Amino acid sequence: MRRRQFLAVSGAVAATAAFGGVRPAVAQDSELVLYCSPQIEWCQLMVEEFEKATGIKVAMTRKSSGETFAQIKAEARNPKGDVWWGGTGDPHLQAAEEDLTEEYMSSAFDGLHDWAKRQAATANNRTVGIYAGALGIGYNSELLAQAGLPAPECWADLAKPIYKGEVQIANPNSSGTSYTTLATLVQVFGEDEAFEFLKKMHANVNQYTKSGSAPIKAAARGETTIAIVFQHDMVTQKVAGFPIEIVSPCEGTGFEIGSMSIIKDGPNPEAARRFYDFALDKDIQEMAAGAKAYQVPSNAGASPPPQAPKLEQIKLIDYDFKEFGSSETRRRLLKRWDDEVNSLPR
Ligand code: F6P
Repeated sequence: MRRRQFLAVSGAVAATAAFGGVRPAVAQDSELVLYCSPQIEWCQLMVEEFEKATGIKVAMTRKSSGETFAQIKAEARNPKGDVWWGGTGDPHLQAAEEDLTEEYMSSAFDGLHDWAKRQAATANNRTVGIYAGALGIGYNSELLAQAGLPAPECWADLAKPIYKGEVQIANPNSSGTSYTTLATLVQVFGEDEAFEFLKKMHANVNQYTKSGSAPIKAAARGETTIAIVFQHDMVTQKVAGFPIEIVSPCEGTGFEIGSMSIIKDGPNPEAARRFYDFALDKDIQEMAAGAKAYQVPSNAGASPPPQAPKLEQIKLIDYDFKEFGSSETRRRLLKRWDDEVNSLPR
């Protein structure tokens, strides 16, 4: 334990005794419980940098977006986490609507891109955008060539029988990436047609993983030919030297506004606000590339990593975050996916 934290903790113990068991504010500053949903390398870097900058000890766990939402909801009567940093924006919006997170306006807010501010406005400032990234189809070019398959160009291609057993995607209940895909397909095709497509594609899916980026890691290792993930996660594998190609689907693609929220009634609210301000800082956001994270940062003054996919060159749909981040819609679509897609034999 560092000296500053030791002083804070031992001071808190003494003060607790003196005030007959009432916990003084000073104890709240010594630690932070962080729920982290982006790639583990970036989570770890944020922990290290925040501890270095503040002396606050961070207890971090990495879980996928849908899993973290479920955990925060399950803990709502006795919240254990302080900040939920990263992960796709839809479940952050649902958490705001379900009163699981707290309103906070950071002093860094004015310096953010409009899309990050809009995300906050949708949730009455109970969340905020911290990065953005577009969905895509990634494939291992060597495996594809060995199998003599054409490169997929459109979402619709992924339902073709030629790709049987070749496609991997996460489960949309646990993974924000996969829920973003589900919501994207509904917006591209209309709901009933999207579910018809998903049922056909189901026959081509070799595995529904828990984490959103797992399929492209599997493609890099040669364990699946095609992966549906965010394009920045494909870049991470390309930069590492794997034969991964990136496709922006011809119909247009969805995107995420990776978000951050303060958990309502968390144990360390002051530390939570310090982390929130810290995570919106330009220099901190620019560190992401050091963890091989290639999302577009939300601070308008921060330069995106040169390898980051150029969102302005991708055919993006006008993703309706309010609708697809609403409790009613997210719950309904996930149930429909469980009932009509995941229950089918493969
Ligand atoms: O790997 C990073 C990332 O793609 C983030 O951009 C995104 O918010 C998160 O993972 C989603 O992870 P999951 O699909 O596991 O919830």
